[in-house]
Amino acid sequence: MSTKRISFTRYLVEQQRVDGHIPSQLRLLLEVVARACKSISQAVNKGDLGGVLGAATTENVQGEVQKKLDIIANEVLIEANEWGGHLAAMASEEMDSIYVVPNRYPQGEYLLLFDPLDGSSNIDVNVSIGTIFSVLKKPDGSAGVSEQDFLQAGAHQVAAGYCVYGPQTTLVLTVGDGVAMFTLDREQGSFVLTQENVQIPADTKEFAINMSNMRHWDAPVKRYVDECLAGTEGPRGKDFNMRWIASMVADVHRILTRGGIFMYPWDKREPNKPGKLRLMYEANPMSWLVEQAGGAATNGRERILDIQPGKLHERVSVILGSKNEVERVTTYHREA
Ligand code: AHG
Ligand code: MN
Ligand code: MN
Repeated sequence: MSTKRISFTRYLVEQQRVDGHIPSQLRLLLEVVARACKSISQAVNKGDLGGVLGAATTENVQGEVQKKLDIIANEVLIEANEWGGHLAAMASEEMDSIYVVPNRYPQGEYLLLFDPLDGSSNIDVNVSIGTIFSVLKKPDGSAGVSEQDFLQAGAHQVAAGYCVYGPQTTLVLTVGDGVAMFTLDREQGSFVLTQENVQIPADTKEFAINMSNMRHWDAPVKRYVDECLAGTEGPRGKDFNMRWIASMVADVHRILTRGGIFMYPWDKREPNKPGKLRLMYEANPMSWLVEQAGGAATNGRERILDIQPGKLHERVSVILGSKNEVERVTTYHREA
């Protein structure tokens, strides 16, 4: 790391100046999201001392019991973002429908989507969790704002990122010009650039999938994992390692750092759902980050970023990470 410290703010200002990647409204938006992540990080760190652990008494639109931190993180993001004039509306895993910026505030042209707290099952056990976000532009010329305005393919994102609350709090961002990572300096209270031009190696010997679902998988996924498990004696001729954190943010962060493949495929438990993960605020932002770092992301058949969403909380099968491995799994699907 260089001795010159570049803050998140300075990085954004320079990006704005150099190649116009970041209009000023978008810069404000990203700064506000970073500030919200800082306060979520604060709450996560306090844990039991802040009374933030454990379940709430409510369910979200996906029928999942909400954790206290799911609700806290959702509120922090809304309160931070609603008044700045940069947004038209927000959408979240924890809200049934879109949240339109109230009339008392000016309306901007951006749309913000988020998974306020990813990895909810890890909150109470002190394992890494995070926040995932995706930014779209409201389509030109539409009056007001509706759910329809959000239904854009991931390729239209103008910014995407996540913040992982782990041993360090790290904010990871793309605005379409590569991937940069910023580590939270708690004493200074600011995010500092610690990694630029992040690159995922094209090959890997590490895969991430919830193996307990093996009996429910489709044949191509089973074939791929079987071949990994066969190790040096199998068709791949090398031994593989496995990791599954059960926080997508933490698994993707590992892949951006040292490579690997992550899969949450369709399975027979709920055959009518395309997968477990949500397209618009989990798969899309993560897929764009991974592609921007030289990796790939598909649903087994097509590029995730090309999928036209039909509804806000749509689910999708996810295969992402090191390019050659993702291509291999995708080929197995096409051959099947
Ligand atoms: P969330 O906590 O936002 O509902 O997301 C959890 C997701 C994802 O982060 C993780 O990869 C996956 O669920 C873990 O699922 P399993 O418990 O089925 O392994
Ligand atoms: Mn999630
Ligand atoms: Mn969540």
